[in-house]
Amino acid sequence: MMSLLFGCCRLCLVWLCVVVAPSSVQGQDDLTLSNQAANAYEEPLPYTYVSPSELPRSFSWGNIHGRSYLTRTLNQHLPQYCGSCWAHSSMSALADRIKIQRAVRGNSGWNTTTDFLLYGKENKESAAKRRTKATNSRALSLPSEADEINLSVQFLLNCGNLVAGSCRGGSSAGAYQFIKEFGFVPFDTCQSYIACSSDSTEGFCPHVDTSCSPRNICRTCHHGNNQTCRAIEPPWIPNATVHEYGTYHHSNDYWSHYIGTTNGHVSNVTVIMAEIYARGPVKASINALGIVDYEGGILTNQSKYSLNRTHNHGVSLVGWGRQEEGMPYWIIRNSWGQYWGELSFFRLQLGQNLMGIESNIAWATPGPFTGE
Ligand SMILES: *[C@@H]1O[C@H](CO)[C@@H](O)[C@H](O)[C@H]1NC(C)=O
Ligand SMILES: *[C@@H]1O[C@H](CO)[C@@H](O)[C@H](O)[C@H]1NC(C)=O
Ligand SMILES: *[C@@H]1O[C@H](CO)[C@@H](O)[C@H](O)[C@H]1NC(C)=O
Ligand SMILES: *[C@@H]1O[C@H](CO)[C@@H](O)[C@H](O)[C@H]1NC(C)=O
Ligand SMILES: *[C@@H]1O[C@H](CO)[C@@H](O)[C@H](O)[C@H]1NC(C)=O
Ligand SMILES: *[C@@H]1O[C@H](CO)[C@@H](O)[C@H](O)[C@H]1NC(C)=O
Ligand SMILES: *[C@@H]1O[C@H](CO)[C@@H](O)[C@H](O)[C@H]1NC(C)=O
Repeated sequence: MMSLLFGCCRLCLVWLCVVVAPSSVQGQDDLTLSNQAANAYEEPLPYTYVSPSELPRSFSWGNIHGRSYLTRTLNQHLPQYCGSCWAHSSMSALADRIKIQRAVRGNSGWNTTTDFLLYGKENKESAAKRRTKATNSRALSLPSEADEINLSVQFLLNCGNLVAGSCRGGSSAGAYQFIKEFGFVPFDTCQSYIACSSDSTEGFCPHVDTSCSPRNICRTCHHGNNQTCRAIEPPWIPNATVHEYGTYHHSNDYWSHYIGTTNGHVSNVTVIMAEIYARGPVKASINALGIVDYEGGILTNQSKYSLNRTHNHGVSLVGWGRQEEGMPYWIIRNSWGQYWGELSFFRLQLGQNLMGIESNIAWATPGPFTGE
């Protein structure tokens, strides 16, 4: 087992990054950073308007009245290994939230009366407020759920390495911060995922250009044998934006102690549940040792390595459920492809910060996006 520890300080954020790459196991990953200063929001956090008693016993964005509001499943390790969990988990959660907003705004044909009990109540208004029409005259409404918006992870690898990360690891809050500062994230039809960054040496990576040039933000290629690709330039880049972003940090190993937000408020794990319930999936950090051999079922505090809370992997929380005896568990989306776990998902006992799942949450709310 090899481990590598490094610290870095960029843009006034102090990052501590722990990379762990056990060479003995297939599929083991990368890392996550704890980005301690990443908060940029003014709107009230959901725990201030969702009381714990309003939270359902079970809730998942993957199944609301039989419908899934989650976007497609991802595999960060194709066409080669890349420690981009931080980008996959954060873009997956953001894309899910865009899908949810499109449904809430009613241009998807879904029934918001029945599908969005709480989300509709609080957020329809603020979402509508910041909705901006495309400035050009093209008819840009995406017609249906069949054409989901997928965000370009490769763009983050090409352009975000100073703030967000690379195939050697990164920060999800950093990814949200980077998109906010850069101005947008292109749809992935602009820039397919190739699992390479400028510092990666796996597979064909040494032979590709991943610099942040216009062609590596959005491009297309033409007929011919001469690499006739060209950049798609603004204002034609199909894109999504980040409105606000923030984090919830856990001050202790056990959730019966408190989750603190950086504005000084404290509460317990219902803070995270309220965030998911009211606004959509969030990104979480875990220790991945306990899920490397996972083949389904609910991991508990009895499961191997579940008490190891050292973060080295990023995932997204899409909801929670409850066993018949009452034990609550998180429903968690991984980015190792569908061969893994429960079609890329796993379940983990909720409330004891197992694997560190509750101690480093990042969220973002979508701003304007092409096709809204
Ligand atoms: C949405 O569901 C409610 C309750 O089932 C129903 O009364 C209403 O007609 C539905 N609306 C649409 C647009 O389907
Ligand atoms: C996003 O991915 C889904 C699933 O692969 C696909 O159906 C959809 O068309 C994609 N959307 C865009 C805009 O490419
Ligand atoms: C291919 O590109 C090179 C460099 O841009 C150019 O000199 C050459 O004429 C091109 N060849 C063809 C067949 O287009
Ligand atoms: C992002 O999308 C919006 C809406 O389609 C468009 O007006 C804007 O120009 C796009 N941004 C870029 C950089 O192309
Ligand atoms: C979590 O907070 C809610 C609201 O304050 C409270 O009802 C619940 O009992 C708390 N749970 C624990 C285990 O402290
Ligand atoms: C494991 O969780 C159960 C509740 O499901 C609890 O009663 C028990 O104390 C926990 N054990 C440890 C070691 O935390
Ligand atoms: C906990 O996980 C970290 C990171 O994977 C690892 O370095 C460490 O050895 C683990 N500790 C134990 C006691 O297993």
